[in-house]
Amino acid sequence: MRTVNKSVYNYDRISITARTVAYVRSFSNIPYAKEIAEKVSAKEAWEKIWGNGPESHEQLMLRAPGIEARGKSIDEILRRSNATQILELAAGMSPRGLAFTNTGKVTYTETDLQDISNEKRGIIESIAPNYSSRKLRLEQANALSYADILNASGAFLNKPLYIVSEGLMNHLNINEKKRVVDNVKCMLQVFGGAWICSDILDRKRLDAADTPGAKRTDITGRSVIENALDSEESVHAFFSNMGFSVEKYPIFTNLHELYSLRILGVPKTEINPLLQKSPWKYTWVFKLNQQRS
Ligand SMILES: C[S@@+](CC[C@H](N)C(=O)[O-])C[C@H]1O[C@@H](n2cnc3c(N)ncnc32)[C@H](O)[C@@H]1O
Repeated sequence: MRTVNKSVYNYDRISITARTVAYVRSFSNIPYAKEIAEKVSAKEAWEKIWGNGPESHEQLMLRAPGIEARGKSIDEILRRSNATQILELAAGMSPRGLAFTNTGKVTYTETDLQDISNEKRGIIESIAPNYSSRKLRLEQANALSYADILNASGAFLNKPLYIVSEGLMNHLNINEKKRVVDNVKCMLQVFGGAWICSDILDRKRLDAADTPGAKRTDITGRSVIENALDSEESVHAFFSNMGFSVEKYPIFTNLHELYSLRILGVPKTEINPLLQKSPWKYTWVFKLNQQRS
């Protein structure tokens, strides 16, 4: 008897979030964030989901400081690590590749699914026509496919590689998460380095913060809350069991640097309660227990 094939999830459904994140990031002072948001009609994508009334404003207040802080936190860890080779998974409309290749010292490959990656290439070309001379590459890669990731990694030399992901893992179910973890693990076995990511959310926090949107399935066909690991302890256990050492860094440390709090006019007394409700709290750094060098 033939078994009925379960419908295959189309990861392109997640791609709308590349635009909504780009819109939220445009309230920060992260270099290139505003230019990119304008070029991808990010505001229109955001308003399709959240409208332009009070709910939209509430969501912006909730997300903008977190998106800004998580991005800056990853940047800071990359700089502190003197990273000269960076592979970004599910880069979407992230401006990091452009910013990090300004000096010519960093080899940066950003990857995403085919459609978003092609669209991003056009955007990068329009912002920085000489981008290929910057050691910045844009490649298609499904993060669940090791072959894709390896194919995308032709620019890297035999020295530590810093893999970044920001906003992918939270959309994946546990088996998919494991596949990405395995893929990253294989890459780090080859190059050494670390995986720096801000997209590991835990259910306990999402529940406590009562994050609106985390339960919604209409946007991507996935519920972030259902796919979350149970707690911070579960995150530790999950990655330790998969052979990683685990470090975590709070993202809300330099509040005076959060431009979005000022631009959105958050009163001083409301900053802490607002940050308590942010779904993002840490940047996680995973290194192989058996590090190559
Ligand atoms: C929330 S967005 C985050 C984008 C970007 N990291 C940022 O912070 O702006 C999620 C991204 O994951 C990408 N994505 C979804 N499934 C993917 C997969 N299987 N492999 C690679 N990228 C994927 C989407 O296309 C989208 O760009």
